Amino acid sequence: MADPGPRFPHDLEVEPFRIDAHDALQSTNDRARELAAEGAEDVVVVADRQTAGRGRLDRTWASPSGGIWMSLLLRPDLPVEQVPLLTFGAAVAVVDAADRLNVRAGIKWPNDVLVGDEGEERKLSGILTESSTADDGLEWAIIGVGINANVDIADLPPGSVTLSHLVGEVDRSDLTRDVLETFAELRADPDRILAGWRRRAITLGQRVSISTGEKTVTGRALDIDDTGRLLVDTSDGIVHVATGECDHLRPA
Ligand code: BTN
Repeated sequence: MADPGPRFPHDLEVEPFRIDAHDALQSTNDRARELAAEGAEDVVVVADRQTAGRGRLDRTWASPSGGIWMSLLLRPDLPVEQVPLLTFGAAVAVVDAADRLNVRAGIKWPNDVLVGDEGEERKLSGILTESSTADDGLEWAIIGVGINANVDIADLPPGSVTLSHLVGEVDRSDLTRDVLETFAELRADPDRILAGWRRRAITLGQRVSISTGEKTVTGRALDIDDTGRLLVDTSDGIVHVATGECDHLRPA
């Protein structure tokens, strides 16, 4: 029988990135940090599974074999406050790639990619961005993207969904390439990222409650500003929220 060649993620080649492929890692973000310390740039770390995947807000991220767990190490020429736009660009790229697989997804602020009807959305993908700054600004950014691709739903937390559950097993190499190529096109164009994010957002126009750790901001989500903060119309006026856990509130 013919040799089928290397399998995901070892088969990946995506210009302009160098691929750092692994069967298993603790966390692709952690590996990307090591590469950042070595001075690397435009590297995508990809693993078939993670043993200690990390999510936003210090949560764990279930990462069994079959998903797409990857981290993009970038050194963009970008003001530090615009780093969230890279995260938005990745979320847009994931939504578009899912769309090409006939999976209609939307983005819950800041960057959860969800599938399903209002009130019954389930999470398909999450993004964890980390960055380092020096005196002269941004040193590096790591955009960690998790996509529940060919994973059994039973192996994920409640509220998750997977592509294999929705449309059957997908080609992870094609999907990863699609996401990375779209991201590569978007990354230098903040205006395009913002416009793309707004079009795919399911949060705008909704009543939201955002817990920032220090306080809870409740009101109607109006828009995002040019650094990705959510503008919430509250009883105390318009508040710009940079980060937090966002819940969509049902109409009373
Ligand atoms: C979230 O909480 O929604 C963000 C999840 C981010 C998970 C990805 S998987 C690849 C990368 N490595 C990690 O440890 N986390 C991110």
